[in-house]
Amino acid sequence: MSRELWSKLDDFYAEKLHLNDPAMERVLERNREAGLRNISVSPNQGKLLMLLCLAKGAKRVLEIGTLGGYGALWLAKGVGEDGNVITLEVNPETAEVAQRNIEEAGASGQIEVRVGDARETLQAMIDAREEPFDLVFIDADRANLPHYVEAAMQLSTPGTVIFIDNTVRYGWVADPSETGAELDGVRAFLDLAADHPRLDCTVMQTVGEKGHDGFALCVVR
Ligand code: SAH
Ligand code: DHB
Ligand code: MG
Repeated sequence: MSRELWSKLDDFYAEKLHLNDPAMERVLERNREAGLRNISVSPNQGKLLMLLCLAKGAKRVLEIGTLGGYGALWLAKGVGEDGNVITLEVNPETAEVAQRNIEEAGASGQIEVRVGDARETLQAMIDAREEPFDLVFIDADRANLPHYVEAAMQLSTPGTVIFIDNTVRYGWVADPSETGAELDGVRAFLDLAADHPRLDCTVMQTVGEKGHDGFALCVVR
């Protein structure tokens, strides 16, 4: 099995299931033009997020790490016209690309981009006692992952779904000879999740156009 095959199959299913409509294709195109890294969720991952929102009946969703807004637009499809997505982005230029994508996709009524370091934005949201979220999608720097999970839990209610991207990273996470702040962040998250009295988690590996990676799916008890 090769990365090339995983990627081809990812395209096959995305095309078969008509996952990328022209508006979503344009978002990825504008991300490329703006020079953003190609690390948005894949169409199949985006659809999974949308379906989790639908299954949960989620109306209030939080995303940590906006990039060009592609993931946020999938979440917006899941919460529907009367739902809301708040998405946090540290880089103002990146947030501007996202804002434009969201406007051109006609989703500015659903998605709010908040610019700033997510650690600070999250603390401000906790201090302001903002309403709990139905689903939280964590997809920013992994070094701060334990911090984001703790903050997400403070913005949760029993039954809130926490979905964490990039928890496998080609298996490096499980290989002690691989080091770095990002891998340590994922490992610290696993330690936190292992014995947490209020958090139930599983990790699923995935292969596809983004290589070999995976996500953690957690539910707040
Ligand atoms: N969820 C997006 C992809 C996010 S990529 C999608 O699927 O389309 C990760 C993003 O997290 C980048 O845009 C990066 O700038 C942002 N990020 C990194 N560190 C951050 C921080 N401390 N606070 C907020 N955003 C951060
Ligand atoms: C990277 C980050 C992501 O969020 C992702 O989905 C894939 C790769 C990265 O930092 O390389
Ligand atoms: Mg990611």
